[in-house]
Amino acid sequence: MGTEIYYFSGTGNSLTVARDIANKIDGTLIPIASVVDKGPIRTDADAIGIVFPVHFSAINGIPNLVQRFVENMEMNSKYIFAVCTCGGFSAATIENLGKIIESKGGKLSAGFTVQMPSNIDAVSADEQQKLFDEWDNKLEFIHKYVKARDEGEFETMGLPLKIALTPIFFYYKNKTFKFFKKISESPDSDFKQWVWLSDKRFFTDDNCEGCGTCSQVCPVHNIKIIEGRPEWQHHCEICFACLNWCPNGAIHGEWISEEVRYHHPDIEVADMMNQVSFKD
Ligand SMILES: Cc1cc2nc3c(=O)[nH]c(=O)nc-3n(C[C@H](O)[C@H](O)[C@H](O)COP(=O)(O)O)c2cc1C
Ligand code: SF4
Ligand code: SF4
Repeated sequence: MGTEIYYFSGTGNSLTVARDIANKIDGTLIPIASVVDKGPIRTDADAIGIVFPVHFSAINGIPNLVQRFVENMEMNSKYIFAVCTCGGFSAATIENLGKIIESKGGKLSAGFTVQMPSNIDAVSADEQQKLFDEWDNKLEFIHKYVKARDEGEFETMGLPLKIALTPIFFYYKNKTFKFFKKISESPDSDFKQWVWLSDKRFFTDDNCEGCGTCSQVCPVHNIKIIEGRPEWQHHCEICFACLNWCPNGAIHGEWISEEVRYHHPDIEVADMMNQVSFKD
């Protein structure tokens, strides 16, 4: 019984949101990475929250890992709510998640979008603070809504906007597909595969001291330290935790902005280490 909050987070925004909600409603926090690939996910909880970052809203906005989690979950007749955190625009992420849940026999009762500082674009300190303050207000709303088991709130793109943005999304989707196919160097035609392989373009500079933090914060254990340097294992969930939690800023990616190194100020590196899927 009770409420379980499942979360996925690369730079702490979604973990902050998940943790704040869990504290308010006395829920249990569970990292998605710790359960996702261990067979069907069953729980006695009567309510489930799913908190995650938006990845590629022009595609469907749902990270691979979260999609796998939802597909492996036994829904029954639980109250399910979701919160996605985004850096600007979540588009139809909540609607898309609702459709997957429905296809598994469940029902998404409510879905919220929380804007947080982007971890892929530079955001000024003032703007970051504004977003953190806005979250404090929104937390109250979500808390009351979920506590009352209300239904029907879906913070997702409406039909007129969807129609207006179709050509733009089509353009970005194709551009993203082409780009990931190229950097993954994969003969497959599956976006999920391309994402896993996209770590081929991560590299380190001479500031790497072999401390292993990148390996320890990777939620899916995709980094091994070999001869004092990280080596990526090609099942990357593209959360950017390794890049942003390296204490020396030593990790780079050909396509990743050098100006953006971010993590949520309320989250410590030890918090991130708690969401790993398994250990050696
Ligand atoms: C690979 C990737 C793709 C992203 N795509 C989007 C996007 O399409 N729209 C958006 O608003 N934010 C996008 N973001 C930004 C994140 O959704 C946002 O910063 C989120 O709050 C990060 O949460 P986290 O700190 O829990 O990982 C993307 C981030 C990454 C790493
Ligand atoms: S966290 Fe940074 S310094 Fe530490 S091993 Fe990884 S790349 Fe090197
Ligand atoms: S390798 Fe880096 S970007 Fe990929 S899943 Fe691990 S921490 Fe995230």
